[in-house]
Amino acid sequence: MEKFAKMIVDRDYKISEIDKRIYGSFIEHLGRAVYTGIYQPGHETADEDGFRQDVIDLVRELQVPVIRYPGGNFVSSFNWEDSVGPVNQRPHRLDLAWRSLETNEVGLGEFSRWAGKVGADVMMAVNLGTRGVADACNLLEYCNIDSGSRYSDLRISHGARDPYRIKTWCLGNEMDGPWQIGARTMTEYGRLACETAKAMKQMDPDIELVSCGSSNPQMPTYPQWEAVTLENTYDYVDYISMHEYFGNPTGDTANFLASSLEMDHFIRTVIAVCDFVKAKKRGTKDINLSFDEWNVWFHSNEKDNEFMREHPWQQAPSLLEDNYTFEDALVVGLLLMTLMRHSDRVKIACLAQLVNVIAPIMTQKDGTAWKQTIYYPYQHASVYGRGIALEPVFTSSRHDTHDYTDVTDVETAAVWNPEKEELTIFAVNRDLKEDITLTTDIGSFEGYKLLEHIVMESRDLKAVNSARKQNVKPVDANDRTRVDGRQVTSRLGKASWNVIRLKK
Ligand code: AHR
Repeated sequence: MEKFAKMIVDRDYKISEIDKRIYGSFIEHLGRAVYTGIYQPGHETADEDGFRQDVIDLVRELQVPVIRYPGGNFVSSFNWEDSVGPVNQRPHRLDLAWRSLETNEVGLGEFSRWAGKVGADVMMAVNLGTRGVADACNLLEYCNIDSGSRYSDLRISHGARDPYRIKTWCLGNEMDGPWQIGARTMTEYGRLACETAKAMKQMDPDIELVSCGSSNPQMPTYPQWEAVTLENTYDYVDYISMHEYFGNPTGDTANFLASSLEMDHFIRTVIAVCDFVKAKKRGTKDINLSFDEWNVWFHSNEKDNEFMREHPWQQAPSLLEDNYTFEDALVVGLLLMTLMRHSDRVKIACLAQLVNVIAPIMTQKDGTAWKQTIYYPYQHASVYGRGIALEPVFTSSRHDTHDYTDVTDVETAAVWNPEKEELTIFAVNRDLKEDITLTTDIGSFEGYKLLEHIVMESRDLKAVNSARKQNVKPVDANDRTRVDGRQVTSRLGKASWNVIRLKK
């Protein structure tokens, strides 16, 4: 059977205005994310605060709107007080999550300053592993209260006159995970998160709170965890968190490219649970989703576990430094399109992580910063995927893989930016052998012409980038799209990532 993909997009068929925060990211005190990642005084590009300018430039190109901080598993044994005040008086601590040494040279103040330089807001996580309600409130007071109280005045004494005014706060991290320091049962966490949320909103009613969902959909307590914890926290929280990582340990590329269906299914299930709790509570507000950790992650696992076991308590060890392949970038593109298509309920999402640790940006300690393969789909989505996600009427030929049936050969997402009068079609051709023609009817977008058709493809699915060579990068392929009145015909190369930009 001939392979095909057909779509109708119409300005009146809308999914939602996309919250730009779905293009967020994450920096944890883990491995070389902070030290020799964003911060390296003495590096040839270091600025007056010790931050690497080469990294700042690459992050700015991504237009990252929000960055989750400081963990991750790290946060569950983190004492925020260690990370503020005069740097030379800050203690060195053992980070139990990653069995590393934390020197606290970079703390809350420094990170806020860096976030300002890259143009991102901070999304802060509180420690609900080894700590609780009082510490979370003290941290909130330090960050968000103007002055006149113990912790706001402490911040001022540390040189920060203006509060950081952090809007979004995570109530712990992966609290269902046996690996988490201070892990909880669902009833324990539900109560703790509820009381913490209540107190934090009492202090600052303008904040938004994220209740911890399951660490991944394979957890034995999923999705009961979501139901029970939300029944406790519903009145005080705004979002529930979702985390999921994808991998191809068996080398089955077709199956790997279909794994975005799992993210789709996960999102649908968590929405159903949120709506169930809303109904049960006779509630009026929707709980939205914060998919605040997602990515491909599997290349480095074995090496990392051995390293942490054999060489503990090092400062900034090389951990979770996955070197991403071309096929990983295709999966990241597919996951980004899944988030766009769920933008009516997914309001925050964080690519985990941003620098050196399962990251689009890598640094050499004594050299340059460079772009991994996954940098590009992330950049395209963040830059061109702003506006209104459209609900396309879409059909495509299909195939089955080891774990998934009825997988579309092509997958798409369409975003309309009314201010710029731009329509962007994102598309992945999952077929590993054949090019497929995508035909799009854009009837309601009269006068729209092709601006560019960006393509990323590679003869070698396992090709990677390095500091020396960008083997995988996007190119312009404008000859692959033709616009004839209302019909847009695009040739999607086998196994390719496509960004088709149209403008009035
Ligand atoms: O992003 C790496 C780790 O993955 C995070 O610390 C944790 O939350 C998750 O398990």
